[in-house]
Amino acid sequence: MTLLYAALKALHLLAVIAWVGGMFFVLACLRPALTVLQPPQRLALMVAVLERFLRIVMVAMTVVLAAGGAMLWIALDAGLRVPHAWYAMILLGIVMMGVAGQVRGPLLRRLKTAAAAGDAAAGGVVLGIIRQRVVLNLVLGVVIVLAMRLGTAI
Ligand code: HEM
Repeated sequence: MTLLYAALKALHLLAVIAWVGGMFFVLACLRPALTVLQPPQRLALMVAVLERFLRIVMVAMTVVLAAGGAMLWIALDAGLRVPHAWYAMILLGIVMMGVAGQVRGPLLRRLKTAAAAGDAAAGGVVLGIIRQRVVLNLVLGVVIVLAMRLGTAI
């Protein structure tokens, strides 16, 4: 492996860690801990957290795509036959990016509208939908990591 390829893989993995690890933290630690706050405060906190986290996710997605695309280019240029696990990673990765885009765009907008109107019930509904999307992306992320670590070893 050349130094450039190794550096691209390190960047790719750091971005994946920030994205997938952030989703794990939100689901496993932040969300269960929200019960210490009153519903309107929960909504305000989640808007502030998600705005920041989703900004980081957009940067992570760009790095994942750019470094992944560059590695793919280098591998194809060297005449490598692409392993099946790579196809799964790219396909599921694109699905993850679409899901993250939906959360960052329409769902975050709906959440902010509910928070601005002080509508804790509507905010709770949107938070429930966002939670489902985050669970989906976390599962896809874990499947990709397993496919890449185990799939290429089989
Ligand atoms: C959708 C765009 C993506 C592209 C084009 C892409 C491309 C690549 C390429 C070319 C490699 C190098 C494979 C090797 O040298 O063995 C790689 C490694 C890896 N990618 Fe991706 N990737 C993408 C998305 C993702 C996503 C979304 C995740 C996880 C959430 C992910 C997780 C990994 C992991 C864990 C490795 C390291 C595998 C290992 O060294 O065993 N990738 N990626």
